[in-house]
Amino acid sequence: MSDFLVIGSGVAGLSFAIKAAEHGSVTVITKGKLLESNTAWAQGGISAVLPHGLRDPDDTCEKHVSDTLDAGAGLCNEEVVRVIIDEGAETIDELVTWGTDFDKDNDDPERYSLGKEGGHSERRVLHAKDTTGREIATSLVETAKQTKNITLLEDHYAIDLITTGKLGSVTDDRILGAYVLETKTGEVRVMESPRVILATGGCGKTYLYTTNPDSATGDGLAMSWRAGASIANMEFIQFHPTCFYNPAATGPEARSFLVSEAVRGEGAVLINGEGHQFVNDHDPRGSLAPRDIVARAIDTEIKRTGAPCVFLDVSPLGETFTERFPFIHETLLGYGHNALEKPIPVVPAAHYQCGGVVTDLHGKSTIRGLYAVGEVACTGLHGANRLASNSLLEGNVMARRALAEIMRLYPPGKEVPSSPEIPKWESGNAAPPDELVNIYHAWDELRRTLQDYVSIVRTDNRLRRAGYRLKNLSREVKEFYWGYTLTPDILELRNLVATASLIVDSALLRKESRGSHHTLDYPGREERFDQDTVLRRF
Ligand code: FAD
Ligand code: SIN
Repeated sequence: MSDFLVIGSGVAGLSFAIKAAEHGSVTVITKGKLLESNTAWAQGGISAVLPHGLRDPDDTCEKHVSDTLDAGAGLCNEEVVRVIIDEGAETIDELVTWGTDFDKDNDDPERYSLGKEGGHSERRVLHAKDTTGREIATSLVETAKQTKNITLLEDHYAIDLITTGKLGSVTDDRILGAYVLETKTGEVRVMESPRVILATGGCGKTYLYTTNPDSATGDGLAMSWRAGASIANMEFIQFHPTCFYNPAATGPEARSFLVSEAVRGEGAVLINGEGHQFVNDHDPRGSLAPRDIVARAIDTEIKRTGAPCVFLDVSPLGETFTERFPFIHETLLGYGHNALEKPIPVVPAAHYQCGGVVTDLHGKSTIRGLYAVGEVACTGLHGANRLASNSLLEGNVMARRALAEIMRLYPPGKEVPSSPEIPKWESGNAAPPDELVNIYHAWDELRRTLQDYVSIVRTDNRLRRAGYRLKNLSREVKEFYWGYTLTPDILELRNLVATASLIVDSALLRKESRGSHHTLDYPGREERFDQDTVLRRF
């Protein structure tokens, strides 16, 4: 039993763990290796309005708030936006204390170099060249390793949350811990804790084309749903406009390589095959409009011209491109593309889950003792479309806030109600899967279904078709789940199907177009939908 059980080792989970270790024992489990997370893949940076003298003189928290609300298309919770943005400078200080080395200004080494991205009216994105996520993730992992009271467990896959509600209580729904598969031994353990922090990230792998790494399979969201937590706004899946289009790609990494929005922030522009800056026809901010607008403009252009992609022209950056974006440049060279010679072919790809497990401003979910932090959560910061570089910020700020709330309500040492006995894990069948083709086919079908029917532009007809297919897949998953020895592939498939179903069900409920949810059947935004889509399993 640990005082705190943290599930996930990205910015949210590790920020929480490092601070919580001052107050009690912390166990962090992660399903792969510590550095396998969306956090480690982040490129552009982290947005924050720094104190006077360190920020752009024209920038203010008010402007950052206004940009966030504008990108969120009327669905952000303004109080949440203000609180999180106000804590930006504190977040940067904390990350620097833990060893994150943000780039400094070439002309003034006392100041940070500040970048810009789509939807931001000012330069306020701190970065470490174009591998900001790797820099943050490494410093967090190293700090966590050196912090007393933290046990870090790799290859530990959380299967399901354990709550008193699941064990039969109707009056007192509390978290008790989680069932966890040790993937190396195949053993399922009960890991108990009265304080569980879910920091499992997003669900990009529900789509065939995504910028996300393999770990992003919606596990935390699906677990919370099965445990009875409220889930909101899952129709808002953000597509990043510029993923490298690489028809010769052989591995998933080659197919999902992101070309950071920060490249456009420094002056690169999107063009079609004729060299026309077509995004200007859709929004006066052109290539630097918020993501939903740019992704939709690209989708429209691709459908209009029949071309497989559009292009990102980095020539306006000159030499700055290789200096500021060495990782992107080198990686593209590795794929056989020299961006200095030819514009980069790009397509949009699924990138970020704007909705998630409903929490308040303290990370508190609707299940007592269960806190959700980072991309898995829906705090109200992002509304219908997240502003670039607000996610790393949210992960750190909400980790700090969740800990403060736990220390107020149930600090370690305070007596917790006695718990019912937790039954041992019951597995269905010990037989290993005989025909893996069934499982892999289901994976492919799921991701193709979402890609084709639940993408940037939707219709009710396509959504319903997706829904039928997901029902079939859900039946098959039950057979795999109860019929075979559990493997991460089966568990992830189960979670992907549950998450995809929540995306489709939420999208069918929103009979309007707004932010990252755009449907041809209801092309306008409607006031009666100025509210979250909240789903809960009874
Ligand atoms: P993650 O960092 O994804 O961590 C989740 C962790 O949970 C992982 O360790 C995972 O293995 C673990 N986990 C998942 N399921 C289980 C399970 N069942 N059991 C145990 N462990 C589990 N945002 C920005 O603000 N700025 C950027 O520049 C930026 N660039 C991005 C670039 C890319 C290519 C991508 C994919 C995302 C980018 N984002 C960016 C978004 C941002 O990186 C993520 O939203 C953020 O890092 C999420 O952090 P997190 O801690 O919530 O989740
Ligand atoms: C990017 O670098 O373009 C990604 C930034 C983000 O998702 O916030």
